[in-house]
Amino acid sequence: MLAASLAVVTVGSVACDRLPGKPPPNPAPVISVATTAGFEIMWAERCSGCHGADGQLGAGLPMRNAEYLNAVPDSDMFSMIRNGVPSSRMPGFGGDAIGGVSDEVIRDFIKGMQVTWAQGDASNDSLGLPWRAPDAPGDVSRGATVFAAKCAACHPAEQAAPTQRGSTPDQLIAGSVTDPFYLRLVSNQHLRSNIVFGRKDLGMPGAAGPFRGPDGGEVTGGLDAADVADLVAYLASKRNTWPSGPEVEDGEP
Ligand code: HEC
Ligand code: HEC
Repeated sequence: MLAASLAVVTVGSVACDRLPGKPPPNPAPVISVATTAGFEIMWAERCSGCHGADGQLGAGLPMRNAEYLNAVPDSDMFSMIRNGVPSSRMPGFGGDAIGGVSDEVIRDFIKGMQVTWAQGDASNDSLGLPWRAPDAPGDVSRGATVFAAKCAACHPAEQAAPTQRGSTPDQLIAGSVTDPFYLRLVSNQHLRSNIVFGRKDLGMPGAAGPFRGPDGGEVTGGLDAADVADLVAYLASKRNTWPSGPEVEDGEP
């Protein structure tokens, strides 16, 4: 009873003290996004829908991957989060974006992501290959050869319908990555990042392998820098193999 009347008195006096529009004297403490607690709030609001609630198992590349986070240069991470990835579904969260956050918050958010997910994982799926693609373009026909030898068994161009696959479908047989419509949705960097770092969350090996040969058997031996560049060049060469009209941006008639 006493507590209830005190509460009313307090609220009343605050209300009388303040001019309309004057900010409250003690704003609620804001948790910095440079800490795990603050980072998790912003991740849940802005990233989890596409990159997974837990930083993995989303449509976008998992960020809960220490090797990946340590390999992406800070300046690239900053510009992708601030400005998005052009011609892809990755939106920008800073700059002129509606509800955009300041550059300072983005920098803190990257720190928060690092303290939360970039520590203590000694895996070497990438064999130390850099995140960024080399300037020289890869060799398309060599890429086709590597793809047939190491990737096609898991990424067939066409798949039998589930009912024709028998009672124990192989969970690792993944979608086509040579389909032009898929390729138009993603950038070459997205292809490279998947090939170099893999997707542990979904069973996609990184550059270290192991891969799968045309007979379905395991193929050991990792990819080197030229293999990755050639694979990306080969996949990219498939992007425009299906004729279509000019691309139309969202909202255009
Ligand atoms: C053991 C099976 C396996 C092998 C071998 C494999 N992949 Fe994958 N790959 C997967 C799975 C599973 C996924 C994730 C599910 C999906 O995207 O369909 C994936 C995802 C990908 C993606 C990302 C697709 C997306 O989400 O945008 C690319 C690109 C890719 N693989 C390329 C390759 C290339 C190139 C090779 C050969 C160097 C390769 N994969 C070898 C199983 C495999
Ligand atoms: C609407 C879905 C969506 C949201 C929301 C989203 N992303 Fe993305 N993100 C994507 C897609 C799609 C890509 C792949 C773009 C491409 O093709 O390169 C991507 C790519 C990225 C990449 C580059 C991956 C690489 O190495 O190729 C990073 C880093 C990234 N996102 C971080 C974030 C962070 C951090 C947030 C939250 C602040 C976020 N994303 C929110 C969809 C999203």
